[in-house]
Amino acid sequence: MTNDTMQRIVLARRPQGAPVPEDFRLETLPIPQPGPGEVLVGVSHLSLDPYMRGRMDAGKSYAAAVELGQTMEGGAVGQVLASQAPDLAEGDWVFGPLGWASHAVLPGHALRRLDPGQAPVTTALGVLGMPGFTGWYGLTELGRPRTGETLVVAAATGPVGSMVGQLAKLRGLRVVGIAGGARKCRLAVEEFGFDACIDHKDAGGRARDARSIGAELEEACPDGIDIYFENVGGAVLQAVLGLMNPQGRIPLCGTIAWYDLGGMGRDGGTGPDMLPRAWRTILVNRLKVSGFIISDHWNRLPDFLAEVAPLVGSGQVRYREDIAKGLENAPAAFIAMLKGGNLGKQIVQIA
Ligand SMILES: NC(=O)c1ccc[n+]([C@@H]2O[C@H](COP(=O)([O-])OP(=O)(O)OC[C@H]3O[C@@H](n4cnc5c(N)ncnc54)[C@H](OP(=O)(O)O)[C@@H]3O)[C@@H](O)[C@H]2O)c1
Repeated sequence: MTNDTMQRIVLARRPQGAPVPEDFRLETLPIPQPGPGEVLVGVSHLSLDPYMRGRMDAGKSYAAAVELGQTMEGGAVGQVLASQAPDLAEGDWVFGPLGWASHAVLPGHALRRLDPGQAPVTTALGVLGMPGFTGWYGLTELGRPRTGETLVVAAATGPVGSMVGQLAKLRGLRVVGIAGGARKCRLAVEEFGFDACIDHKDAGGRARDARSIGAELEEACPDGIDIYFENVGGAVLQAVLGLMNPQGRIPLCGTIAWYDLGGMGRDGGTGPDMLPRAWRTILVNRLKVSGFIISDHWNRLPDFLAEVAPLVGSGQVRYREDIAKGLENAPAAFIAMLKGGNLGKQIVQIA
């Protein structure tokens, strides 16, 4: 890369099942210049998020797919290098949909200015960004937590799960996490303050079945489960369902165990058919299952920041970041994150 060229990662082909490095391609091209109302941003840190797996598939979803040859989508933070936008000046730190790239030109109105004096800019990608906001919204608006209740959340040490667990603890709930591996389970309890954390893998790192996860979960949740914050689907969901209390709530946030199945098609995906049992459990226990997509709720971001930024500042809400180095390593970090290779919010340092 020279002074007037940039790099980006494009979608080279659509994954068949789990993504592999060949699904991505690193390209070098001239740095574009901003037009009226636009700014050129030098990207500093890119966020890698599970939703990007969905964008790699063609077909119906809540957002359009990334086209072949297009820059992979992603939120990132960076510094303004040149501005033709009235509200942004050279040197400003911004967050926006900058993509998997070293540089990006975007309209000024698509960017949010950050104050690096308030919090490290990387927090805008995790604990004080979209994932943290997702945890806060799903828990408070859809989970409706009440003191003394029991909450279960998987992907417990990730930016969504750790936010949900910590906020639920602050509200006086019993909080049980589920995570992959002994190290993550220790982190959930010792750093994020969960009451217990169950490993969904065995000592050899293989997936455990729903029955064995369920037996341990039953012990960890002696009063049943009032809120299951759904991040993963799969065996964890199967284990949880039978333990839900009447009037329980399930904020349905993600189903990462099934993302490689595709699944918005007419066949509804090809996963194990647990529909009859799931549907009947929802009926018999009068459960409230609330699917949500956080981008429908951006208007609540200021409320989230007003409540949670001070908690992060005071250390009452903690966070972990896992920072890979170099844009060229983004595909490997992304592929690993989808399988649980990340310890905390997965970020790629670009500059
Ligand atoms: N609805 C929305 O608007 C919205 C917004 C943001 C995020 N989400 C969803 O929220 C969930 C968490 O996101 P995040 O950013 O916080 O991700 P994350 O926790 O940083 O990373 C994903 C984690 O999923 C876990 N995982 C992967 N495969 C699994 C499986 N088969 N069974 C159980 N766990 C598995 C792994 O953790 P372990 O190693 O601990 O298993 C992995 O580290 C994802 O499903 C994501 O799609 C939804």
